[in-house]
Amino acid sequence: MIVVPVSLGTRSYDILIEDGLLDRAAEHLAPHARGGRFVVVTDAHVAATQLKRLEASLAAAGIAVCPIILPPGEGTKSWDGLSALMDQLLELGVERKDAILALGGGVIGDLVGFAAAILKRGCRFIQIPTTLLSQVDSSVGGKTAINTAAGKNLVGAFHQPALVLIDPTSLDTLAAREVRAGYAEVVKYGLIDRPEFFGWCEASGAALLSGDSAARTHAIETSVRAKAAIVAEDEEEKTGRRALLNLGHTFGHALEAETGYSDRLLHGEAVAAGMALAFRFSAAQGLCSADDAARVTAHLRAAGLPASLAEAGVGADGADGADGADGAALVAHMLHDKKMEGGTLPFLLARGIGQTYLDKTVDLKAVAAFLDAERFA
Ligand code: GLY
Repeated sequence: MIVVPVSLGTRSYDILIEDGLLDRAAEHLAPHARGGRFVVVTDAHVAATQLKRLEASLAAAGIAVCPIILPPGEGTKSWDGLSALMDQLLELGVERKDAILALGGGVIGDLVGFAAAILKRGCRFIQIPTTLLSQVDSSVGGKTAINTAAGKNLVGAFHQPALVLIDPTSLDTLAAREVRAGYAEVVKYGLIDRPEFFGWCEASGAALLSGDSAARTHAIETSVRAKAAIVAEDEEEKTGRRALLNLGHTFGHALEAETGYSDRLLHGEAVAAGMALAFRFSAAQGLCSADDAARVTAHLRAAGLPASLAEAGVGADGADGADGADGAALVAHMLHDKKMEGGTLPFLLARGIGQTYLDKTVDLKAVAAFLDAERFA
């Protein structure tokens, strides 16, 4: 089994990665029982495929578990969803000695983590992520949140889990599109500061996407090691180091807003297109080579991910560009992003593959002009 420590002083924890871990979860959960109960929160889709595995493991070890099954989908990560979950947790009489298990993707992890952060001023929770995106990104690092009318993830807290259990075989029941979307976040770590890992993605990404166990485990391990290192340096995104994890997210945010945060464009797909745009914008500004930007674009496309406005479904429909959102409209979406700082919008740009940096001096007019040109690419 692979053990990746997240070093955060008294809030340190381990990430465990192994095929079949869900079926052996009890032995790793038992030390966290502390005389309390385990309450597992999941959604109806994950309950149908993975919950029985977790329950069987706990039952075999004589550990009782209370399941709470929520409706699937982003709508659950809302004030109403939070309120309903809090009521259920309170009805069950959950106490601080209990542990809340978040079994599912990013929606479940973010919502349950936030509920745990505020229930009785802070309860322990354990992440058991079941999508590639949540395994390589959102389950690690303690960001928890819900969406509100004003935007996504605007209400939340930093609340670190006590343990993260990753069973890559949980990906076997996912739609190929969802695995591809999560793969964008894997590629991200190579682009941030691990050029050799981007080379590995070019060589082995296809194997990972086709379910090769060794490739999948290597990608997850490398990703969480990279994320754990960044989180240990800048837990609450104060120094700019953790902000590197937002590569592709500002451009991607505009694409998600333009497509109504819907199934038209999944978050990971928006991040993929956003990373390609960030690299091409960097190349257009003379910051990085056109070859590196082309390599990033080619790999994302080869993985079946969108790498342009048109592929993300927001390019110009007509020859005159009358139908798509123009550069100014896309920049206006960016200005609603929570990453705004004192009236400026920091961008993650690149000097090359593996050389991402935070730039707080980007001229938004140049971004709009770049996006206008990209509409016809
Ligand atoms: N997903 C970005 C972060 O955890 O900081």
